[in-house]
Amino acid sequence: MKAGLVRPWPDTTDLGRMGVTPQPGDRMVFKVPSLRNIEHTAPYFHNGAVRSLDTAVVWMARYQLGKELAAQQVAQIVTWLRALSGTLPTQYIARPAGMPASK
Ligand code: HEM
Repeated sequence: MKAGLVRPWPDTTDLGRMGVTPQPGDRMVFKVPSLRNIEHTAPYFHNGAVRSLDTAVVWMARYQLGKELAAQQVAQIVTWLRALSGTLPTQYIARPAGMPASK
């Protein structure tokens, strides 16, 4: 998905997928990780620029939706994001069959 959909993303050092393809339509397009266990997977975004989940939510609303959230709204969304935490099935993080052990 495109980072900076409504307002320009603050850091364009990495142009995302465009750096690889190089199609203009791929500018600032990044793979978005799953939000499962998001409270445990800081720092956030493609360059790990944001350490707190509150700030990540503020940035999302600002740059992806063009909205400035009230503190209470941020807190409510973060409460919901925390509901996405849980134990990962061990199969999910298992080494794929045939993959050599890392050095
Ligand atoms: C309030 C609504 C939203 C919330 C709570 C939210 C939450 C998040 C979070 C927590 C991340 C960080 C994922 C990570 O690094 O592990 C993320 C990344 C991302 N989200 Fe959202 N998001 C919202 C709305 C949107 C919308 C509307 C779009 C676009 C249509 C969007 C596009 C993206 C993109 C492109 C990234 C990756 C950016 C990068 O890696 O630099 N998000 N989102």
